[in-house]
Amino acid sequence: METFFLPPDIGRKLRPYFFSFLTFLLALILREALTPIVGMSLPHATFMVAIAFSAWFFGLGPGLFTMIAGLPAADYFFTPPIHTWSAFTPVELPSTFTYLVASCALIAMGVANRRRAAELEEKNARLRELSAHLLRSQDEERRRIARELHDSVGQYLAAICMTLGRMINDAKDLPAAMVELLEEAVEISRACASEVRTISHLLHPPLLEEMGLSSAVRSYAEGFATRSAIQVQLDVPNDLHRFGTNIELALFRVLQESLTNVHRHSGSKIARVTIGADAHQVWLEVRDRGKGIPQKEGRPAFRPGVGTSGMQERIKELAGTLEFSSDQTGTLVKAVIPLPAGPRSANTEPTVAQRRVS
Ligand SMILES: Nc1ncnc2c1ncn2[C@@H]1O[C@H](COP(=O)(O)OP(=O)(O)OP(=O)(O)O)[C@@H](O)[C@H]1O
Ligand SMILES: [Mg+2]
Repeated sequence: METFFLPPDIGRKLRPYFFSFLTFLLALILREALTPIVGMSLPHATFMVAIAFSAWFFGLGPGLFTMIAGLPAADYFFTPPIHTWSAFTPVELPSTFTYLVASCALIAMGVANRRRAAELEEKNARLRELSAHLLRSQDEERRRIARELHDSVGQYLAAICMTLGRMINDAKDLPAAMVELLEEAVEISRACASEVRTISHLLHPPLLEEMGLSSAVRSYAEGFATRSAIQVQLDVPNDLHRFGTNIELALFRVLQESLTNVHRHSGSKIARVTIGADAHQVWLEVRDRGKGIPQKEGRPAFRPGVGTSGMQERIKELAGTLEFSSDQTGTLVKAVIPLPAGPRSANTEPTVAQRRVS
């Protein structure tokens, strides 16, 4: 038996023509339905709408197809004398010519708009790619600086502390004022080392990769509460799954920015952090009891800064959603990220630390 070989993308290529044919049929039915109202006048009108629709949504070929199909249909069914071919008779020629010219103009406009929309979409996609790339580079850079600070500056400061300590121990015959100065230098070096450690941890939380989101969030919230004097209530399960670096880092950055915003903008003395997950998604909520996002004419006058735009980009890149709800009693930021399909069990994925040990 003879078989016809069709190129694999033939279906994709024919689909727009199929839809433009449906559009043409719809125009035909609509024109028939309008006949009792408009009689035999404007035989081409509904086909021209179909042409504009086809050219805009399906492209040049389908637009031309609808135009060519519409001409005999308008002629045969709706131009008196009906059920005859008269499109190219001297009487009908001007109207046929007008139909063809107007249709070509509609197709040209549709195709131009289509092209512009495609260009815009491509530019948007490139922008999205660029901002995702920038966020990734920023994370990488933060990680590198954090490591350098911890491993280099931090170690030097620790060495200075030790050396000064030894000097104080060994130099028994130094004047008391000098020993006092040395002790002061030790104190300053210790404070400096602790500051470097805090900055390094804020830039890139080491616990996130080692122990996961739950531990990193607890540790960050504790430090934040001490630094800001804002009480942080945590509702974070201890046995949270591991969700992979991208998801955990994105949620952690949302937490950091949201808590910073609570401190900078809300005036709240309390913040509540909730993290939860089921088989399909993981979510993070940061709620405060502050003055809320400023309102204008009953709507949130929300001017996104780098903080909220960054959060939005991070969550969008992982196909998630980020929502803000706010009134005079406080603000809620909620990030939800869908999880890749696959069986999960409570915290069975080995942590980096566990993997290293085993
Ligand atoms: N928890 C909050 N309470 C009250 N207002 C908030 C809160 N979070 C955000 N806002 C409002 O939303 C605005 C945008 O926040 P966003 O984090 O994008 O920018 P920012 O904090 O002003 O600057 P940055 O770019 O440094 O983060 C803030 O200026 C503030 O008016
Ligand atoms: Mg901010």
